[in-house]
Parts: sequence; C-alpha cells; structure tokens
Amino acid sequence: MTSFTRGRGLRVTGWSSQLPDNIVTNRDLEKSLDTDHDWIVDRTGIHSRRVGGTTSSLSIESGRAAIESAGLTPDDIDVLVLATTTPDRRVPQTAAGVQHELGITGGAFDVNAACSGFVYGLAVADGLIATGANHVLVIGTDTLSTITDWTDRSTAILFADGSGAMVASAVDGPGNLLSWSLGSDGELERHLYCEHDGKMIMNGKEVFRSAVPSIVNTSREALDRAGLTIDDIALVVPHQANVRIIEAACKRLGAPMDKVAVSIDHTGNSSSATIPIAFDEAEAAGRIQSGDLVLLTGFGAGMSSASAVLRWEP
Ligand code: UT7
Repeated sequence: MTSFTRGRGLRVTGWSSQLPDNIVTNRDLEKSLDTDHDWIVDRTGIHSRRVGGTTSSLSIESGRAAIESAGLTPDDIDVLVLATTTPDRRVPQTAAGVQHELGITGGAFDVNAACSGFVYGLAVADGLIATGANHVLVIGTDTLSTITDWTDRSTAILFADGSGAMVASAVDGPGNLLSWSLGSDGELERHLYCEHDGKMIMNGKEVFRSAVPSIVNTSREALDRAGLTIDDIALVVPHQANVRIIEAACKRLGAPMDKVAVSIDHTGNSSSATIPIAFDEAEAAGRIQSGDLVLLTGFGAGMSSASAVLRWEP
C-alpha cells in the first residue's frame, strides 16, 4: 500500500466514553494479592481502575451518548462496528444486542483485534464509508475483569473495564482519517492469550518487549502514508497498557510526554476501550483543538498493532 486516494472519507461527528462506577484502587488489591500500591504505580502508572458492567451495557451507554453528540438518531447509523475481545457470549456477536437496545436499524458486527481493536474498527468504518455508508458507529468496549484471574498479581493489577465510541460520518473527498497502519505478528500470540472459559495468561516481559516496536513501527508507517512527521502531531493517543510502554514508545517516536494522552492512572487497561476513553478525556480537557492532527496507536494480544492519523475537525 502506498497512498490513500478516495472520493469519500470519514469525519468524526460524535464521541463519548463510559467507565463503570466501581473504582478498584491499588490499596483494594493489596488486601487479596501479594502486591503493593507503590510497586504498581512505579511499574505501571496505575493508581486505580474501573471494574463492572457487561460489554453490552457499557457499549449501549457510550454508543447512545456518541450518537447524541453527533446530533443523530439511531436510525441514521448504517453500521455498528463493535471492537471487543470480551464478547458477552460466544454467539451471537455482542453488537447484535447493542444494535437492538440502541434502536439501530442498520448492520452490526464485532471486530476482535484485542487492544488494537478500536483503531481496526476505525479503519473498517473508513472502508464502509468509502463504499457507501453514511454513518458508522465504532465502539471499543472490553470487560477484561471477566477473564482476569484475580489471584494472579501479574495481570490483576493491570486489567479493567470500559467503553468508548465515535460516530464516523461520510464527507466528500478523502476525509479526516488521513491514514492507518495495521499489523499482526501471530508468532507471538503465545505471550498473551485466553482459552475459551479460561483466564488471561500473560508473559508480561515479552509483551512489553514487542509492544514498543509495534507502536513505533505502525505509527511511523501511518505518519509516512499521510506524508507527515511526528512533529506535525498535536496529540498522541496511545493504548493504555503501562505508562512505561507509553513513555518508551513515545520517546523513540520523538513525541514529548506533554503531547501524549495518559489516562491509565485512573482507568487501568480496558483493551479496545482505552484509546477512545483517553481521546474523550483529552478532548474534554481542551487538549485537542479543531484542525489538530492526532495519532491513535495501539498494540495488543496477537500481537496485533494499529495506528491511524486523524485530523480533528468535529
Ligand atoms: O494490552 C497489553 C497487555 N499487557 C501488557 O502490556 C503487559 C506488558 N508488561 C508489563 O506491563 C510488565 O511486564 C508488568 C507490569 C506486567 C510487570 O512489570 P516488570 O517490570 O516487567 O516486572 P517483572 O515481571 O520483571 O517483576 C519484577 C519483580 C519480580 O520480583 P523479583 O523476581 O525481582 O524478586 C516480581 O516477582 O516484581 C515482582 N512482581 C510484583 N511485585 C509486586 C511482579 N508482579 C508484582 C506485583 N506486585 N503485582
């Protein structure tokens, strides 16, 4: 792939995020695990995380709010793309129940690309719009708490639940998703996986080791495809897995931390949801202005990786 030239592209017209009410602090985890608050903060940047809800219930909340913020009704949505690695059931796709509850009359399906899922979902939305859809609702939701072994301190300190959503609407011309880069290295899948009815198994050191180059590589490729450099980017919105991964990757990319959205301290790692949540929080805090270029970048089990450059013109 070299360049992106199309007659129809996407513009983000609505967005939202949703966190479960239940806050689990490091001190709470200290009561049942051989761990301590200072270790968790030092090694991960996490102070607390949110736990609760189902993938459907969180998706319904963030999806409804995103449609409202776009000034649309559910009837306007042609397709719902739900990025999740924690579907509520094996069959059917979780998107089906969400579509019904929201009153969306268009199509609905799940995308599973682990923590890269939301950026994969945006790329899918871009393709749907290029071929005729007018409005696509992309939701990233995960309830990792349901597949976490709460007696395993190597994973229980990291994982969390949450949801974030964007409405992608068609515009004439190339639109505001300037580029994307998607990757997968299945050779490494053994480092992070969950069998049916099992719990997450993770080799944290190996995941850390491959996370940094995956973020850097797909980010550079997305920037190249858009004809940009990192200096053009106003804000990097990375997947929130570990603040040390974010710092190491952004340093290699040449992005100073004051141009990076970090929310992991109070959200933990909610997989497909972290990028739209961090985006929503940064936008609400006034860190993204109209016309800004934003780099979304994620990596996760698979090992999957995904980056995209978005021009923010809501
Ligand atoms: O979305 C993608 C999902 N996953 C990730 O991105 C995970 C990437 N990996 C990581 O974030 C890190 O590898 C962890 C946070 C999981 C672990 O951090 P680390 O700096 O790699 O620690 P470590 O595994 O090298 O362990 C260092 C020490 C060990 O003790 P010794 O052998 O030095 O005495 C561990 O036993 O820390 C100990 N340790 C803990 N201590 C307190 C490991 N986990 C804990 C814990 N609390 N929760």
